[in-house]
Amino acid sequence: MPVTVVIGSQWGDEGKGKIVDLLAPDVDIVARYQGGANAGHTIAWEDQLFVLHLIPSGIFHEGVTCVIGNGVVIDPVALMEEIRQVEALGFRVEGRLLISHNAHLIMPYHKALDKARERWRDAEAIGTTGRGIGPAYVDKFARSGIRLVDLLDREGLREKLRAALDEKNAILQSVYKDEAIDVDAMIEEYVDFDRRIDPFVTDTTNYLCQALDDGKRILAEGAQGSLLDVDFGTYPYVTSSHPTAGGCCTGLGVPPTSIDRIVGIVKAYSTRVGNGPFPTELLDDVGEHLRAEGREFGATTGRPRRCGWLDAVALRYTSRLNGFTDLAVTKLDVMAGMSELKVCTAYKIGDKTTDRFPNDIATLERVEPIYETLPGFEGDLTGIDAVEDLPANAQDYLAFMSDVIGVRTSMISTGPRREETLVV
Ligand code: IMP
Repeated sequence: MPVTVVIGSQWGDEGKGKIVDLLAPDVDIVARYQGGANAGHTIAWEDQLFVLHLIPSGIFHEGVTCVIGNGVVIDPVALMEEIRQVEALGFRVEGRLLISHNAHLIMPYHKALDKARERWRDAEAIGTTGRGIGPAYVDKFARSGIRLVDLLDREGLREKLRAALDEKNAILQSVYKDEAIDVDAMIEEYVDFDRRIDPFVTDTTNYLCQALDDGKRILAEGAQGSLLDVDFGTYPYVTSSHPTAGGCCTGLGVPPTSIDRIVGIVKAYSTRVGNGPFPTELLDDVGEHLRAEGREFGATTGRPRRCGWLDAVALRYTSRLNGFTDLAVTKLDVMAGMSELKVCTAYKIGDKTTDRFPNDIATLERVEPIYETLPGFEGDLTGIDAVEDLPANAQDYLAFMSDVIGVRTSMISTGPRREETLVV
């Protein structure tokens, strides 16, 4: 079967971009299915690090076609800038990037509303990326969104933007006491996208279904992580889409029966950016050490990420939700030099112990992690190209991870570069 899905198993930032870039030469198409420019997929390309926010992480492989599916919300300004940057690196984008005509747009008022709602929530703020993701999905499901296809109809677009801004400005001004957005300036900026965006826009569902009929292989690239899923994550501290496996089908229009591999990307420890419960968070020197060694700062917002021990309770939950066939463990090198490594294998809630992840935050905020402690490992992992050559304690840690999650590991990443990956 031809579809492989790559999914973040934690709260995002697991290193999906690197793994997608690594798997891309084996497929014909790499497709993003949800989220938007809140994502930051980092790829080490020659001596540089490049962060992709919207363009799928297969773009650095000339033979691969990249698709942005109907489930993604697209900021056309950010997209055009990203296309320009990738082209400046010498890669052809036109003819290789296809964008669903049904994908919804993120407009300036979505970004303004995102920030205004966060200010309004005050202490209860979600800690969003401020990229307008939530408000754009709200409009999609309220059936008042503007889609990519609308950009191609200048007159219709003017009317739609005027109508949308009438409503949004009323909310921005009267509810949030914010400034109104200038309708005419916004219309002038957006009516001009038609010529630039036209070469990329198509019916990607039809394209992907035909590709499947033709025996082509597709890699679906999840963004964010399973614990940020709007239904299965730590609601309300989640994103507004479905990063989990089901999102691949609705966000691309490919049938569930076409999927035969679901790779869970697991960082060797846990991180979270933004607010919300995080049972294994470390607010001490160990957490600081992980942040410094792992360079744990948001690829999109630059915010410091919260760091903690690996949470196998949460990972078993996301593994069951997604049906992971195999795991790719990332950032193992960051754990080198620590005297001991802890893995949370159960939670204590009051006087009870559970190995089930409670996905209501009232309970999750009360849980106390129960840890198993493993000995740490020393040494620089650079240049090691076989699992058997890893320090024995690192091998034991990996084996323990696979055992407690219940899924085999197929890849281990020991650094940002393509060649710093062990295939098991
Ligand atoms: P939003 O997606 O911008 O609405 O943010 C909602 C939550 O998801 C916040 O906690 C963000 O920090 C988090 N989030 C969104 N995108 C990413 C990502 O790509 N990596 C990690 N966290 C993310």
